[in-house]
Amino acid sequence: MTSTFLNRRNFMSAGAFAAMLAARPAILTETAKAGTPNEEAVSPFLWGAATAGHQVEGNNIASDIWLLEQVEPTLFSEPSGDACDSFERWHEDVELVRSLSLNAYRFSIEWSRVEPAEGQVSLSALQHYQRMVVACRKAGLAPIITLSHFTSPRWFAAKGGWLHPDAPATFARHCERVIRHLGNDVSHVITFNEPNLQLLGEWGRTPDPVVRQTMKDMLASAAHASGSDQFSLMNTGDAATMVAPVLEAHKRARQVIKNVCGDLPVGMTLAIPDDQGVGPDNRLEDKRAAVYAPFLDVAQNDDFLGVQTYSRSLIGPEGPLPVPESAEQTQTGDEFYPQAIGASIRYAHGQTGVPILVTENGLATEDDSQRARFIRAATASVIEARDEGIPVLGYLHWSLLDNFEWFAGYGPKFGLVAVDRKTFKRTIKPSANILASIARSDLSQRKRGPT
Ligand code: BGC
Repeated sequence: MTSTFLNRRNFMSAGAFAAMLAARPAILTETAKAGTPNEEAVSPFLWGAATAGHQVEGNNIASDIWLLEQVEPTLFSEPSGDACDSFERWHEDVELVRSLSLNAYRFSIEWSRVEPAEGQVSLSALQHYQRMVVACRKAGLAPIITLSHFTSPRWFAAKGGWLHPDAPATFARHCERVIRHLGNDVSHVITFNEPNLQLLGEWGRTPDPVVRQTMKDMLASAAHASGSDQFSLMNTGDAATMVAPVLEAHKRARQVIKNVCGDLPVGMTLAIPDDQGVGPDNRLEDKRAAVYAPFLDVAQNDDFLGVQTYSRSLIGPEGPLPVPESAEQTQTGDEFYPQAIGASIRYAHGQTGVPILVTENGLATEDDSQRARFIRAATASVIEARDEGIPVLGYLHWSLLDNFEWFAGYGPKFGLVAVDRKTFKRTIKPSANILASIARSDLSQRKRGPT
């Protein structure tokens, strides 16, 4: 698969930062009390793991991507099917996060479950997510929810998705509904996950004509199956035309969320590798202007920015350079470069001035000792950035579970926890215990304070 779609791959004032951390004192203090080692007074650093509904829940049949997995031709190597059965086993997942001494769990709310047909709201689905949120809090975990993690309802895509003129209002209505149900109990809300992913994947590259054609055919089949003449979703079609409506949807969502829960921190997440210019005429700044600037501009008015980094990206005078031949690679062909996250944090904070939450960081690997090395080095680089005084709110590893990696299906292993594909049995990998001990020692050290 050569497509990059859905694949991996100024200091703010101390006063403003303190105000931000105090935004949800009840939840954060509760998190601090409930988790055994996590007893910081008001602002515990968030150590956690992340998932997304479509990648773990299973049978998300009313979503746009479910349909794309079923049609002919398709770019998906296999359908998501039962995924990790997390719609049923979510309590096991929450317990896993708790048992690893972490204090935060990021997961997404599947819009297509909440509103499977336009205007028909499933109270049962809303109550399901409410139970998850409450269970997290009881377990001492800060619940961090994502409102759009790539998927949207099939009916929404069949109307033209984010390109439909009503899309921002429709999304904001959905967000308001969710926040009315869950808002009082969540610690942070993310509107969009990586709305810049397609721009990032395509920047400076000539699209593979076969993949491009298959994408078009897949969307045409999905439109046909939906009785529509169009089918459009995040990260398909022309990436540049999607930016304005998605940012408008983000702003409207932020506003309605604030209207309902004024103290709930709202942000989006961006895919930001550690971009490194090579040579005097490199195009680093061109890339930054095209791929991040419009989003970073809007994020300046958010409460935090989610940074998602997997590796570094070298940029020469012609654009992206290949991974150096001698470099160690991950299962998905990224360069093994765990220190990338520190640089992304510095860049993202420098551009926005808002606090940074590492909402995803990790690697695909079948070799868990490689993941263990990654976690040690990546968390050290996050702590270094935090020690420089950058307001870093937390580190959420991607992912809690080996899950459905979009086009690549169940091949890539991003999980701290393995999932048996036949029984759904979860098995904690040794690397998860490394993250657990780093979290434990950081939290207890911070509780003791400087010596
Ligand atoms: C996405 C995840 C994905 C991960 C690894 C991120 O782009 O948010 O859904 O699984 O990267 O590729």
